[in-house]
Amino acid sequence: MEDTSFAIHPGTKKQLIGDNFKDIGDLLSFNIEADVVYFKTVNGHVAIMFYNDKTARIVMNQKKRPQLKSSFAVIKEQQGVKLEVVDNKDFVELKTATIVINISKKPFRVSVLDNEGKTLVSETDKGMAFNEKSEVICYKKMTDDDHFYGFGEKTGFLDKRGEKMEMWNTDVYAPHNPETDPLYQSIPFFITLREGKAHGIFFDNTGRTHFDLKSEKDTYSFKADVGQIDYYVFAGPTMKDVLKQYTELTGTMPMPPKWALGYHQSRYSYETEEEVRQLANDFIEKKIPVDAIYLDIHYMNEYRVFTFDNDRFPTPKAMVEDLKKAGIKVVPIVDPGVKEDPEYSIYQEGVKNNHFCKYLEGNIYFGDVWPGNSAFPDFTKTNTRQWWGEQHKFYADLGIEGIWNDMNEPAVFNETKTMDVKVMHDNDGDSKTHRELHNVYGFLMGEATFEGMKQHLHGKRSFLLTRAGYAGVQRYASVWTGDNRSFWEHLQLALPMCMNLGMSGVPFCGPDVGGFAHDASGELLVRWTQFGTFTPYFRNHSAINTVRQEPWSFGEDVEQLAKKYIEQRYVWLPHLYTLFREANQTGLPVMRPLVLEYPTDENTFNLSDQFMIGDNVIVAPILTPTTKHRVVYLPEGKWVNYWTDEVLLGNKHHLVEAPIDILPIFIKQGTVIPHGTIKQSTATPEDELTYHIYLGDEGRTEYKLYEDDGTTNRYDEGETFDQELVCEYSSSIVNISLREANGSYDPSWTIETLVLHNVNKGVDVFVNGEQISITNQLFDKTKKTLKVSVER
Ligand code: GLC
Repeated sequence: MEDTSFAIHPGTKKQLIGDNFKDIGDLLSFNIEADVVYFKTVNGHVAIMFYNDKTARIVMNQKKRPQLKSSFAVIKEQQGVKLEVVDNKDFVELKTATIVINISKKPFRVSVLDNEGKTLVSETDKGMAFNEKSEVICYKKMTDDDHFYGFGEKTGFLDKRGEKMEMWNTDVYAPHNPETDPLYQSIPFFITLREGKAHGIFFDNTGRTHFDLKSEKDTYSFKADVGQIDYYVFAGPTMKDVLKQYTELTGTMPMPPKWALGYHQSRYSYETEEEVRQLANDFIEKKIPVDAIYLDIHYMNEYRVFTFDNDRFPTPKAMVEDLKKAGIKVVPIVDPGVKEDPEYSIYQEGVKNNHFCKYLEGNIYFGDVWPGNSAFPDFTKTNTRQWWGEQHKFYADLGIEGIWNDMNEPAVFNETKTMDVKVMHDNDGDSKTHRELHNVYGFLMGEATFEGMKQHLHGKRSFLLTRAGYAGVQRYASVWTGDNRSFWEHLQLALPMCMNLGMSGVPFCGPDVGGFAHDASGELLVRWTQFGTFTPYFRNHSAINTVRQEPWSFGEDVEQLAKKYIEQRYVWLPHLYTLFREANQTGLPVMRPLVLEYPTDENTFNLSDQFMIGDNVIVAPILTPTTKHRVVYLPEGKWVNYWTDEVLLGNKHHLVEAPIDILPIFIKQGTVIPHGTIKQSTATPEDELTYHIYLGDEGRTEYKLYEDDGTTNRYDEGETFDQELVCEYSSSIVNISLREANGSYDPSWTIETLVLHNVNKGVDVFVNGEQISITNQLFDKTKKTLKVSVER
């Protein structure tokens, strides 16, 4: 019935009776204890504290003194920030060196202002409130100039102004439409851009939460079904500052193993060892680069995690070893559901040692997933996480270095799609219902898996992919955007979705390239692979019963085109790796919306069909069939067409040509990008590094390249290689200095090539003070490029 017009039967009309929210009322008193300011109001309690002088936390509890234990997302401790407290007649002020929190007394309303007195966050006639159903809500003022980014994994356009969104990790096989919400991840964090300046809010509540940026013209709200209002305000003032402040609180991603950044091939499922070996051979014979092959659920013995089906995979260890020798890693799927089977050791241990989620009455919760009736580990318990982590020795002993976590919302095949919300989580003695902790289940499975693999890999970096997560998931895993379809519309929606994941602290993300469900076409696969070259995570995955989607599945032409762009991934890897280091250090995403770099240019505010890699490369994929051109917006400056070297003026929309073999890419003039070489996988050491220097008329540019061994955690102890290129140029002289700074890592390449773009023949080139002789130079007349080779 739901699928017919009956769904809008007159009898379904909702009564608009409102939610009966009660305001927390006027301020009665306040006091300070251990750097926390506690307020008592007529109907509630509020605590305000600081994490540094730009990050404040506000917590409201309608019944009692706020509980200040933060969720698993937060790793930063509260700090004793120098605070001036001023008690005026009508308001209280809390002043740090950079922000002022102004609390009006009647009624109790909170405003956060910057040190120039500009309001960042403020409340209107409505502030914080609650109702009989234990829902809590916080209203904030919204101005005409506000634009919103972040909110994790959402469908729709880039700017979330005018949207209503919900956070409740959900397995959505279909559909993924503009109105499909929520999906698998919950990241209740967003950035508000207002007149070029930004601030952020993180609503740290692990139950179901709602964000309404739609219903009222000048007010937005965030609401939770259960728990407290507990939110952080980040004062910016730039969008990049907000991201840094948020990832200081919730952590940044570790450096991924380099192989995790190569091209990955998956299918539900490569069902036998023979098939996997054949697949690896096909890639090698066809000379198509590949770094990882995935094992979906068929590899297991009747879907029991931590097992292999010995008939289908008679020698998994030898298979993993042989593939590794060929430069290919094997990544198996691991779901949380443990098959109910009294003869299965994992199930036995889980029951005996109390690792499974239970009802208050003590009975284990069972749900139906791939293995049939299954129990679910209670990842909120430290010793259950340790137990789960230990089980990964099974994979590590087989030589496996990467794990794929799926179904960890947790997904259950029932009406609600998940675990009974009445189930209790132990939460290390502070027990809570699933209703209160649902959104953190997948995150904690990720933590258990990541820590387990770390322990078993003895200093080698592991890779983890997850479907579900919560704020802070970047500390443990990369994220793929779940079960999309082989629709052009889903290619389109992947751009803003991934850009907003990046703006939510998750730089390492990507969709299933080619689309998971439904049948791909050759043309779609080519265009999607072109886009995949630049998504931080690059995996082709497709579902059971769909047409094959490996790069060669649609004939020779498609194969060559897909191959060209998979190869490009390896060419761009030194630049991508440098950007991953930036993400690791600062929390900034690799794939960026233009608005992050050009926050005062209104053309970028909702630009959803093109993106940047770092701060100087614009990628504008083709997102519709039989299309050979598109409009690209280039912001201020001059931009160089990557393929032709044509120089284009910024602050302008351009119509660019893009036949099927072209992905439009533009480099900002006056900047540098490093390139590596095409190789079968990242296991082949780089032997030549090329710096492309895009010269303008006159000026100076620099680039800081990052490199390390790509496999171990020794980068944390300073085994890194940082090279600084500085180039000063005019029409007649180019002066380049290449300096190796810090770090004790010695990279593999011996040749360094410099390609100068937009130069005239006869220009004098100096590298580290020495003039390069004409015989060491190669000039391309049409492109106006000059190639100079030097030895490292
Ligand atoms: C889920 C995953 C998908 C996987 C399938 C079988 O649908 O999202 O990627 O292939 O389960 O494990």
